[in-house]
Amino acid sequence: MTGTAPDLPRLPPAYRLVALEEVDTTNAEAARRAAAGAEDGTLIWARSQTAGRGRQGREWVSPKGNLYFSIVLRPDSGIAAAAQLGFVAALAVAEAVGSVAPPMVETTFKWPNDVLFNSRKGVGILLESSLTPEGTLDWLVLGVGINVASYPGDTSFPATSLNYEAALTEDDVVNLLEAFCRSFLNWTNRWLDDGFAPIREAWLQHAVKRGETIDVRLPEETLRGIFTDLDPEGRLVLTLPDGDRRLISAGDVFFGR
Ligand code: BTN
Repeated sequence: MTGTAPDLPRLPPAYRLVALEEVDTTNAEAARRAAAGAEDGTLIWARSQTAGRGRQGREWVSPKGNLYFSIVLRPDSGIAAAAQLGFVAALAVAEAVGSVAPPMVETTFKWPNDVLFNSRKGVGILLESSLTPEGTLDWLVLGVGINVASYPGDTSFPATSLNYEAALTEDDVVNLLEAFCRSFLNWTNRWLDDGFAPIREAWLQHAVKRGETIDVRLPEETLRGIFTDLDPEGRLVLTLPDGDRRLISAGDVFFGR
């Protein structure tokens, strides 16, 4: 449970850093600590994960060289609003990458919370939460994985890394984490002060495929329609061929043929 001192990120005082060489998953470690009372801002960072997990129960391959971290958050909001923090995190990732990587990396967003580098997935964001016995939000864990040195080859959506796109290396991981933490604080404050509207606006500016046909894979079916909008709560608005509009809270987006 150590990090070598010269490599430790310097984070704003709002965060409590726990630096690990290896862990099963930073999300699980953050959840264990949250359940034991860890405070808002506790940030678990690991150089590698042995059981990294992605959305919908998928694996997140996690060798050394990429960035893996999770933050314990205890927002006063309800669970639905808390999901908006995934969009807040995507904006912060884009800003962090923009400040560390050369401009040849075009950063865009794919609903719900993927960040693409030059049209390929380079970042995954996983939100997990726990409720109190009364049904209110107890804690939230925001997990972020950024492909810095490497990316997996066998993914359903094409993947990439910052090394492939812009020759970044493992040495950039600390800078990226520091930049993310600064941006995430700023965007979170914006969200707390002004709500989801400015987050939605900023996210939509860099969203891919708006106004175009996409496939949305749901547990029971795959829908094809036009990605029309992001609604005021963060749901995907999909217009089906018959003109019906569906509001989608969870699913996987693909770009089809
Ligand atoms: C996705 O499926 O796109 C989400 C991937 C989230 C990966 C990150 S890596 C840090 C944290 N720990 C995990 O096990 N998952 C998240």
